[in-house]
Amino acid sequence: MTSYQSKHLLIKTYGCQMNVYDTEIMWRLLTPLGYQASSSEKQADIILINTCAIREKAEQKVFSYLGRLALIKRHKPNLIIGVCGCIAQNQGKKLIHRAPCVNFVVGTHAIFQLPSILENILNGNKQNVYVSFQDHLNEINMQQSPIIDSSISGFVTIMRGCNNYCAYCVVPYVRGKEMSRSADSIITEIKHKVSKGMREVTLLGQNVNSYGRHENQLSFTDLLEAVNDIDGLLRIRFTTSHPKDFGTELINAFAQLDKLCLHIHLPVQSGSDQILKRMNRKYTRKDYLTKIELLKNKCPDISITSDFIVGFPGESHSDFCDTLSLIKAVEYDNLFAFQYSDRNIAPSSKFFPKVEETVKRDRLIELLDVQNKNTLKNNDRCVGQRYSVLVEGKSKRDNKQWTGRTSGNKIVNFVAPETTKPLDAKLVDVVIEEACAHSLRGYLCHKK
Ligand code: 5AD
Ligand code: SF4
Repeated sequence: MTSYQSKHLLIKTYGCQMNVYDTEIMWRLLTPLGYQASSSEKQADIILINTCAIREKAEQKVFSYLGRLALIKRHKPNLIIGVCGCIAQNQGKKLIHRAPCVNFVVGTHAIFQLPSILENILNGNKQNVYVSFQDHLNEINMQQSPIIDSSISGFVTIMRGCNNYCAYCVVPYVRGKEMSRSADSIITEIKHKVSKGMREVTLLGQNVNSYGRHENQLSFTDLLEAVNDIDGLLRIRFTTSHPKDFGTELINAFAQLDKLCLHIHLPVQSGSDQILKRMNRKYTRKDYLTKIELLKNKCPDISITSDFIVGFPGESHSDFCDTLSLIKAVEYDNLFAFQYSDRNIAPSSKFFPKVEETVKRDRLIELLDVQNKNTLKNNDRCVGQRYSVLVEGKSKRDNKQWTGRTSGNKIVNFVAPETTKPLDAKLVDVVIEEACAHSLRGYLCHKK
């Protein structure tokens, strides 16, 4: 039997919230076996890298980190390096050829087997590529692993994979088919986390509207209702929703469920019908705008955010102008925008004509400029209003201020009288005095 007592482990995470959650799973599986958290590469005996393959830049970051680790390993030949997640799933054995300092690769489904994989590796077993897709979510392991996180705000993955095959996207290839966790295991996990101090949960899935569809589970809105009933939980968020599946059921949930935050992340990607079609998004600009209008009518206070890709193959200046006009029409509270990045396994890598890098960069700058004006305008509207804020702690920049988020996910920094008891994890009312570019400032207001 291998002794793990002396093994120092470092897990480095790249990419999205789902990877952050997967890293949490890794710790939950490995901590009970005696692996100790290491704070530096120098101290670590084992380094696991949880990787992202969504854009070339994300991959480059991982390979440059591996370059640094290769240098460390020269002086520390016993260092064990494992690459997990999306790049591991995509490249498998090729990754070890490209970065010979890597001892083993573990794909997106195999992370649940990490305890036995690490044991094999430490015992000198030769198998070093673990990338097969499993047909089930390894819920047994998840339920047995203790909750070690005590954050006020946490993530819980409710489904994995994606069946949508947007032309630019690697997710269906590296994360596999859509699979939903059972509602029971989700609720049990959230209850455990609430008992450890979590007050806000973000439910994660590539396409949460499809929750349960393939397993005859509860629907997504039924699940939201069940989560809403959990005592001690104050707030629920979720991400991501696909515009083609987003509809009245979910819009009604915003109006009905008191813990559901008034924020929807609804990635549109482009405002041009021609590009949406080539992207295989399965909705038109009009479909999207109609749903946004319905949503705003039913929930006037809702915050809306989105993702955009600029420079998709074949995107003309006029297509790009359609995107800008959509951004102006929706008046998003915030958005994430990316320059299109060719991914070999995604169909659009074979689409032409490609848009020049300089054009992509200029379009990104122009788009962000339009949005910055929207953000400021939306933030300005908050001045003088009172918002319920879930306090995350003292501000890192200024110890005299507290920080938290509104239901609409806006960051609020605020002052409170010095005699105020600690506000961590409390829902408090704050009056907004000033709108900044990326946050709001205000003061604590005692409830009447
Ligand atoms: N190039 C650029 N952006 C991409 N995204 C996904 N794939 C690509 C790609 N190949 C963006 C989309 C998605 C977000 C998570 O990443 O906007 O919503
Ligand atoms: Fe990728 Fe499209 Fe699935 Fe989102 S919905 S993960 S963009 S394939």
